Amino acid sequence: MTRHFLTVADLSSEELIAILDRSSELKALRGTSAHPQPLRGKSIAIVFEKASTRTRLSFEVGIHELGALPVTLISKDTQLGRGEPIEDTARMLDRYVHGVVYRTFGHDRLETLAAHASIPVVNGLSDKLHPVQLLADMMTIRECADPPLEKARVAWIGDGNNMAHSWIVSASVAGFDLALACPSGYQPDEGIVAAARDRGASVRVVSRPEEALEGATVVTTDVWASMGQEAEMAARQDAFSGFIVDDAAMGRASDDAIFLHCLPAHRGEEVSASVIDGPKSRVWDEAENRLHTQKALLEWLVS
Ligand code: CP
Ligand code: NVA
Repeated sequence: MTRHFLTVADLSSEELIAILDRSSELKALRGTSAHPQPLRGKSIAIVFEKASTRTRLSFEVGIHELGALPVTLISKDTQLGRGEPIEDTARMLDRYVHGVVYRTFGHDRLETLAAHASIPVVNGLSDKLHPVQLLADMMTIRECADPPLEKARVAWIGDGNNMAHSWIVSASVAGFDLALACPSGYQPDEGIVAAARDRGASVRVVSRPEEALEGATVVTTDVWASMGQEAEMAARQDAFSGFIVDDAAMGRASDDAIFLHCLPAHRGEEVSASVIDGPKSRVWDEAENRLHTQKALLEWLVS
């Protein structure tokens, strides 16, 4: 049966750890003659309905390094962007390529694509979830943070958005503790929290950053207005006042806490320049790890 990766919960805990272990191996092998090319002769489509820098770069380079051809489609230049049904796009895509990465708005569009494609579908970000980012984030925690991943205490400060949801789902698969501080009206989807708790996740949603930060070994945040929410920015700046991750916030976390951010970041809004550009920040390793984790994911899904 074709496997897809629409959410981190599409992996068992054992599969997740195997992919993260393989990501580290591929990182060590990068640029050497021993680096494998398990997708040699194959092609992978990458379809964007929203902007991207990291996702496009990391998938294109990673697919090339696995020996396959990346084919990037910007939706507005395609028939998909002119209204061709997603079902027909799915049926056509699997006649040409061996997998597809899809960045879209509604998560239902990813589910429709997966339901009608016989090739693996990878979520490259939806309004609901950004699971490929979490693979990189968890790899970075394993590399940088002491204790190990399942013992990490993660504090999310900010919007209950697609990244917050992905941390919640990941807590249920990886076993780390997660506390999310979100302003009233911007809390994560209750169904996602409940489903994660049903799978055994330790997840708390609180209203003040200091409640989440106490003892955290990882502090993370994201923009206050995601792609598609630009018109809400003024209202959101009011609502998120006090939710900046600055030196005072990091001072409440564990002494050896690291700072993560999926990027792009807005210095002076969700994070201060002193934190994102400071010694606790691991955001550039995190961005690099997109490449290694997605290669391990595609090797597992497609080859
Ligand atoms: N973090 C991330 O997905 O970045 P891009 O939007 O640049 O792809
Ligand atoms: N929450 C952000 C993540 C960008 C990588 C967005 O959806 O725009």
